[in-house]
Amino acid sequence: MKKAKVLVTGGTGYIGAHTAVELFNAGYEVLLADNFSNSSPDVLDGIEKITGERPLFEEVDCSDYDAFEKLFEKHSDIRAAIHFAAYKAVGESVEKPLMYYKNNLFSLVNLIELMNRQGKSSIVFSSSCTVYGQPAKENLPVSEKAPLQPATSPYGRTKQICEDILKDSAMAYKDKLNVILLRYFNPIGAHPSALIGELPRGVPQNLLPYITQTAAGLRDVLSVYGNDYSTPDGSCIRDYIYVCDLAKAHVAAMERLLDKSGEMKDNIEYFNLGTGTGLSVLELIDLFKKSTGVDVPYRITGRRAGDVEQVWADPARANEVLSWKATTPIEDVLASAWRWEKKLRGIA
Ligand code: WQD
Repeated sequence: MKKAKVLVTGGTGYIGAHTAVELFNAGYEVLLADNFSNSSPDVLDGIEKITGERPLFEEVDCSDYDAFEKLFEKHSDIRAAIHFAAYKAVGESVEKPLMYYKNNLFSLVNLIELMNRQGKSSIVFSSSCTVYGQPAKENLPVSEKAPLQPATSPYGRTKQICEDILKDSAMAYKDKLNVILLRYFNPIGAHPSALIGELPRGVPQNLLPYITQTAAGLRDVLSVYGNDYSTPDGSCIRDYIYVCDLAKAHVAAMERLLDKSGEMKDNIEYFNLGTGTGLSVLELIDLFKKSTGVDVPYRITGRRAGDVEQVWADPARANEVLSWKATTPIEDVLASAWRWEKKLRGIA
């Protein structure tokens, strides 16, 4: 007997697909919704091959209320939702802010409105450590108590505004809406099967996909955006978390909302999802070589606008309250990313 039906918006995206697999594994009925604006229908095949079951799927633009409403009319037994559907490229958001505000904000407002019509509802929201900006040294590692900083891009601002929308909604609908916001640090890697993984469109903006594409010969050289920061080796520090560990945190959050909501002190909770370990860009390049045997040519270039110098998580609250911990060794995570890249490019 399956557990509750969970709607996963943006469900064929990178984190959405990995979360769908873990929700299946935990016994939930999974309904994916996506408009393929940043993903491919092939992802559904990958999920089916991994789980042995093709997920329920609806092609829909969540920012289109009427279309989204039809999904809820068809699936009136949706008990909870995990909301990934959003644009997420920092640079693109600077060029096209209205596209970001319209898509990222309208999708969430529509979801809350339609979930509320279901009666009691639970929402897990995909947020980001970007809301912390560059934490002060005394606030590193970053806990949920760290002050939020003004976002440095329209993308980051949509994350902050979405958090405020959920906070106001949780206040207004105390008796019918429970919310958990998950603030990701830097998700990386791919499912061990190499059947699903990150599918960056065009030139990868994020570090690891650029590393694996360089290792695969698609890119000539990796640009390291600055080595003149106040860090031990001069390059930026981040908290790189395995996407499968991150996906498992969503299952833990769903279980808390659906089965343990009585333990929640408030009907909205926040969790930082990271490993608790910071790694620099140069350290990650070195670890990639150690994990895969593949050397990645790189050059030091100027800093990238909008980059923070160093940020990594204090995951203690998620470890304790969600009984969840990121456990996969970084070497295995990097090897999973390389396996996926080789699979994509037909490299033995
Ligand atoms: C990591 C480090 C770069 C590429 C962003 C969003 C965050 C989340 C993840 C959506 C930085 C350096 C990168 C390259 C490089 N997005 N770098 N050469 O910027 O920490 O986080 O993506 O969920 O919300 O803010 O990730 O991977 O782009 O960069 O030197 O070719 O790698 O300067 O220091 P970032 P990133």
